[in-house]
Parts: sequence; C-alpha cells; structure tokens
Amino acid sequence: MITLPGHITTSALLGNGLLRLLSNPGQWRLLCERPDLIPNAVEEIARYDTPTHIFLRQATQDTVLAGQPLAAGTEVAVWLAAANRDETAFEKAEEFDITRPVQSKHVVFGLGAHFCLGAALARRQIEISLRLLTERLPGLQLVPDQRIDFRPSLDHRGPMSLLVQL
Ligand code: HEM
Repeated sequence: MITLPGHITTSALLGNGLLRLLSNPGQWRLLCERPDLIPNAVEEIARYDTPTHIFLRQATQDTVLAGQPLAAGTEVAVWLAAANRDETAFEKAEEFDITRPVQSKHVVFGLGAHFCLGAALARRQIEISLRLLTERLPGLQLVPDQRIDFRPSLDHRGPMSLLVQL
C-alpha cells in the first residue's frame, strides 16, 4: 500500500481537487478570498472526488454484512467513493461545497486497524499546494476544451495530466 497511496493517491487528490475547483470558478474564487477554508476544502475534495475508489477484503469467517450473508473466503469490494457520497451520512452529498463543515465521517483514508498511515502527510501536502496556488496564481484557469484522461485503474481515480493557464 505504501507505493500506491503514498504517491498516486496524493497526486490524484491534488489533480481531482484542481479540476473540481477550477471547474467551479465560484468555489475557486471563494478559496482565494478565504484561505481559512483550505483545510475544509481538502476534506471536501477528498470526500467528493475520493482518489482511492475501492479496496478489497476477504471474509475470514462466515458473517453477515448489512444483512447480506457472506461465507468465509468471500471477497468484498469496499466502495469508499460511494460511501463518501452517501446521502444518509452527508447532507446534499452530491453538492461540492468547500464551506461544508469539516467532518470525520468520510472514509477517504480507510477505517479501523488499517487506517492510512500517511493521512496527516497527505492532508498537509494538499493544504500547502492549495495555499501556494491560491496565493500566487489566483487567476488560474483550466485550458478550455482539453481532453482529460483518467488513470486507467478501477481502484484509483485521478487525471493523468491537467493543462492550466493564467
Ligand atoms: C490522498 C492521499 C492518500 C489516500 C487517499 C490514502 C488512502 C488510504 C486508504 C484508503 C488506506 C486503507 C487501505 C486498506 O484498508 O486496505 C491507506 C492505507 C495506507 N496508507 Fe494511505 N492514502 C494516502 C496517502 C498516503 C501517504 C502519503 C502515505 C505514506 C507516506 C500512505 C501510506 C499508507 C500506508 C502505509 C497504509 C497501510 C496502513 C495499514 O495497512 O496499516 N498513504 N491509505
């Protein structure tokens, strides 16, 4: 997990975040005007555009999960990205809103015994990147009509590259 989460996920989170913010110029402007919202924005970007879409588990014994019986050995794909858009956990879950109060309910970094060891580092990296970009390049825009290719992966989601201009 160190190679993938430590590199791909952090760059995917920044790429997803810039794409989402610059596609919503109102949210980008707000972030430039209100740097105090940056920690909130990091959580909202991570919730809304979760870079680690799924991880896999295997039932070690017969069990029941959300009413569904699972025999020992059954493989389960846990959709973190879907959980992070769950309307029962997040009000207006389909809305991207950097003023959404910071909450610990999202599962971007997993849960329990295998909770991401790099979560604090990843959060800080994105926070610093957004602080520098909003301070120094508030006029940043996406290059219009560009083709954005996403990493060809089922479990990680982020743009391969993003063209921006001033
Ligand atoms: C946005 C960035 C990141 C995301 C979304 C992310 C996500 C995750 C998730 C969902 C897990 C749980 C996997 C599971 O339960 O099977 C995990 C585990 C882990 N992550 Fe991250 N991660 C990120 C950044 C990092 C960084 C920067 C590092 C290291 C410098 C790191 C190191 C690890 C390690 C070592 C584990 C395994 C922990 C264990 O199994 O006990 N991650 N990460």
